[in-house]
Amino acid sequence: STTLRLGIAGLGTVGSGVIKIVQQNAALLTARSGCTIEVAAVSARSRGKDRGVDLSAYDWEDDPTKLAQRDDVDVYVELMGGEDGPAKASVEAALAAGKHVVTANKALLAHHGHALATAAEENNLNLRFEAAVAGGIPVIKALTEGLAGNNITRIMGVMNGTCNYILTRMENAGLPYDEVFEEANQLGFLEADPNLDVGGIDAAHKLVLLSSIAYGTQVDFPAAELQGIGEISIDDIRAASDMGYRIKLLGLSQMTENGLEQTMQPCLVPYNSPLGQLEGGTNMIVIEGDSVGQIVLRGAGAGEGPTASAVMGDVMDIARGITLPVFGTPAAQLVDTPAARSQAP
Ligand code: NDP
Ligand code: HSE
Repeated sequence: STTLRLGIAGLGTVGSGVIKIVQQNAALLTARSGCTIEVAAVSARSRGKDRGVDLSAYDWEDDPTKLAQRDDVDVYVELMGGEDGPAKASVEAALAAGKHVVTANKALLAHHGHALATAAEENNLNLRFEAAVAGGIPVIKALTEGLAGNNITRIMGVMNGTCNYILTRMENAGLPYDEVFEEANQLGFLEADPNLDVGGIDAAHKLVLLSSIAYGTQVDFPAAELQGIGEISIDDIRAASDMGYRIKLLGLSQMTENGLEQTMQPCLVPYNSPLGQLEGGTNMIVIEGDSVGQIVLRGAGAGEGPTASAVMGDVMDIARGITLPVFGTPAAQLVDTPAARSQAP
């Protein structure tokens, strides 16, 4: 069988989870892909840190960009995060060097997705980011593959595990925000900058990526209207609860006659509804298509195992020889649609 060699940059929550799957599920990965999947080399900031995984068989690179260009790397796996800096530089370098890329980095894709997709597709390479949206839920595969025959009419959902964890735990346990926030941190949910989570920015990154895939539009993060959960108090949560509602950070994306509408904001959701029942770090994405009707995807949106699961799903596609346009539609055909907000009277 052939061998697919990974270069993994970032050995935190997600990177360690990926190493565990490669080590623990090696036989089934090979059986399902026909490829032996190996880690050639890894990179992180501190070489000596104990990460709970055995890295002794892998080469170490201090510089992720060098890792991305190594001759013995077939797929560059970027799991450092950050919309610019080493993540962007190394992904660009990988694509220029003819390497497929898998990343969990929604900030990078939400800001630079179109340029990176163009670079990948010009070289017939994959740039995959299933883990970037809703962690373990294969929502990108659902949209680009299973639902590819549909005209998608609406997407909505809860796309940030940290916010859902905080809101539901405050309500259920009557705990203060700070204590619950620390619990989310211990569970590995938080972004390096937690303001991305509680400010709604991380969830909006995900929403705009789904919009691009669903409607064939260029990613347009600045057009998303967003508001975080920072001003939601325990009293607001209790008042909503008394009326039979829960407060959720809810995303909505739909194509209107005025253009693309993308909002991410705290909303009242009836308690007795699928979204209202959503607990903890769980995510839920509701997709409406003209043929399929409405489907609901639900699962862990963050954390080591679920996120690594999505990364490996992308690696497996590459191992199977599958190459797809980054946003489902080739980047050259993605349209630059005006935002509904700027069109509104
Ligand atoms: P962590 O903070 O746990 O890990 C980040 C890793 O990147 C660390 O190993 C760190 O090194 C390394 N790193 C950071 N900067 C550099 C650098 N300049 N050079 C080399 N290595 C660097 O993050 P996560 O694993 O949680 O997240 C990684 C990515 O996955 C992010 O894009 C995040 O948005 C995304 N993601 C995370 C999810 C989650 O549940 N955690 C879910 C979905 C997506 P060191 O360890 O030495 O400090
Ligand atoms: N910080 C993100 C969350 C990680 O809490 O949902 C998953 O993208």
